Amino acid sequence: MYSFPFSANDLSRMKQAKKITAITGAGISSESGIPTFRGEGGLWKNYRAEDLATPQAFAKDPDLVWEWYDWRRKICAEAQPNQGHITLAKWETIVPGFTLITQNVDGLHPRAGSKNLLQIHGNIFKARCLNCGNLSEIDPEKPREVSCSLCFSKLRPHILWFGESYDQDLIASCFETISSSDLILIVGTSANVSVPADMAKEGIRKGAFSIEINPERTSLSELVDYSLQGKSGEILPKLLDEIYK
Ligand code: APR
Repeated sequence: MYSFPFSANDLSRMKQAKKITAITGAGISSESGIPTFRGEGGLWKNYRAEDLATPQAFAKDPDLVWEWYDWRRKICAEAQPNQGHITLAKWETIVPGFTLITQNVDGLHPRAGSKNLLQIHGNIFKARCLNCGNLSEIDPEKPREVSCSLCFSKLRPHILWFGESYDQDLIASCFETISSSDLILIVGTSANVSVPADMAKEGIRKGAFSIEINPERTSLSELVDYSLQGKSGEILPKLLDEIYK
């Protein structure tokens, strides 16, 4: 039975929070059976990212890159949102000012029902036209479209690749949200990727009450108010009950 170390004042502060931002990483999906990137059996363990998730790799061998994403998409489509995803989607129905920023491309947050969702690394169930930028949904049950429905040009995965820059408008709205949050939840991320880690640090710097949920410690652990060591699928539902009971 998980017992939280919160004081009455902490609980009241979290319960009063009107603007809450969660930042999630691959760890929140590990209990759904989707390997993380850097943990045991992580995705990168079997592939060198440079071989696959880069514009150069796609230019060199688009079929190989599509094949890897088709394989990963199948894993994601067969996975189910876990109690961590479901709890964050429920939290959004309790607190209208709840925003979810995710590094994950696995589509489990939208499937769990999260609406106010910023997918900063893209979504594996979307393709993007190399020419006009049109986004299209990829139905895992059907053969994948190879050309844009608008201009018939080639498509690429709608994923942010290594060496590519973020969508600046998207990142700006993430920082704007996090900077005015009363409570931030940092869930299932190693904080190895600088932009999401910087978002968390900005929220902490601006005075948000901050909670990290991760079985392991990270570079953020000593910066947050509470670093709860455990699995997000177990801790998040209990945390929601503890705050709003
Ligand atoms: N609950 C919470 N956290 C967990 C769980 C769990 N059940 N299982 C593992 N974790 C934690 C690990 O301890 C680790 O700190 O999840 C974190 C996963 O870290 P990474 O694999 O580095 O994933 P992430 O932080 O999301 O970075 C991945 O980097 O490669 C880029 O763009 C890619 O979005 C991707 C990002």
